[in-house]
Amino acid sequence: MYSYIIEGNHSLQGSVEISGSKNASLPIIAASILNKTTSKLYNVPNIQDTKITLEIMKLLGAKVKKANGKVQINTKDIKKTQIPEELMGKMRSTVILAGAILGRFKEVTFSYPGGCDIGARPIDLHLKAFEKLGINIEENYGFIRCKCDKIIGADIDLDFPSVGATENIILATVLAEGVTTISNAAMEPEIEDLAKFLNKMGAKIEGAGTNFITITGVQKLKEVSYQIMPDRIEAGTFLCIGAATAGNIEITNVNPEHLVPAIHKLQEMGCMIEEKKNTVQLIAPKRLKAVDIKTMPYPGFPTDLQSVFGATLSIAKGTSVIVENIFENRYKYTSELKKMGAKIQIEGKIAVIKGIRKLHNAKVEASDLRGGAALVIAALTTKGKTQIDKIEYILRGYENFEQKLRKIGAKIQKLN
Ligand code: EPZ
Repeated sequence: MYSYIIEGNHSLQGSVEISGSKNASLPIIAASILNKTTSKLYNVPNIQDTKITLEIMKLLGAKVKKANGKVQINTKDIKKTQIPEELMGKMRSTVILAGAILGRFKEVTFSYPGGCDIGARPIDLHLKAFEKLGINIEENYGFIRCKCDKIIGADIDLDFPSVGATENIILATVLAEGVTTISNAAMEPEIEDLAKFLNKMGAKIEGAGTNFITITGVQKLKEVSYQIMPDRIEAGTFLCIGAATAGNIEITNVNPEHLVPAIHKLQEMGCMIEEKKNTVQLIAPKRLKAVDIKTMPYPGFPTDLQSVFGATLSIAKGTSVIVENIFENRYKYTSELKKMGAKIQIEGKIAVIKGIRKLHNAKVEASDLRGGAALVIAALTTKGKTQIDKIEYILRGYENFEQKLRKIGAKIQKLN
């Protein structure tokens, strides 16, 4: 188990280069299964989640070469269609591999996905969509076996704009017969990135990034090279780091269009923000103002920034109300913040945060990826040293996190 020791109360200044997107890399790595040849991916973040996904790809039979941010995957020799159970449990997004294996081999066996403890995270929408595509599904002893002779395009209407279900339907139907449409599709930029990657391979996907997507099945896909989009959640996290420490932060290699709700909220909180083509500069006030936040599917406020904003608002002037509409258990970090003096009340999906002047240091522990990042933000604001345990959660999704923090003046050590 690893820990961070953070000595806070420094106003952080400087420039941080944002890494490639975790949540675009994972489905794009899975999608490389479909072209049965080589895919060259650039700007892939070197984090736990991408390492595990590439491990699974190798176990399935793919050849993987990695060198600073570039990943070359040759999927010609993949034969296996069962995802190893012990790796399935390690993270949520492994379920995306199912759609890609299904799309190529017309069969797949996998166990229920693991992932952060932020809610039940069922996959009923994925399975219902697979059934509509003519895929036979058997579930026993925790394993799900999907099989069909061929995948036939269908019109699918999602009860909820699920990111993973939208991605899985695209992956399963790129090589299908006929046309598939997805109504009430998720509109997250990571889905647009996946579609751009697949279309570069020769797929026919229209409407990605809107709530109506059309996939026309093709016979064959070709070699491709592709640059993964920047990580908008890491970008929002570093903007909050600047805001919470009365700092002056520039983030580079970002797409400001993906950050609109977060930037608007930070401006409401009193931050001065300047956007250029691929950079965002934030100058924070001495004391932030409280704001209200409601998480929504894209283009609404992203649930993945809920916890880092919650930590930032715990020292704002006034009372903030957060409504978490996407996951039913995404406030675990607040009990750790309370150990640092935060005044937070949770009522179901509502968090009422009464801002105080200063948190104090404490020994706390991370319980999920974004909740762990929230604790880092809180620790950066306190006098003295805070210890954060179980930071493995944080390393799942933030590349070179300590190095980036040190570059802008944070005093942080990693202990094991
Ligand atoms: C993706 O998870 C992201 N993960 C999550 O980021 C992100 O929070 C989420 O989308 C929402 O934006 C990856 O891309 C790897 P969903 P996913 O399916 O696909 C319910 C992070 O921190 N639902 O859009 O699992 C589900 O329970 C992670 O980087 C069903 O009920 O999200 C949740 O309440 C955390 N049935 C809601 O929909 C289903 O079949 C949104 O889930 C599928 C989902």
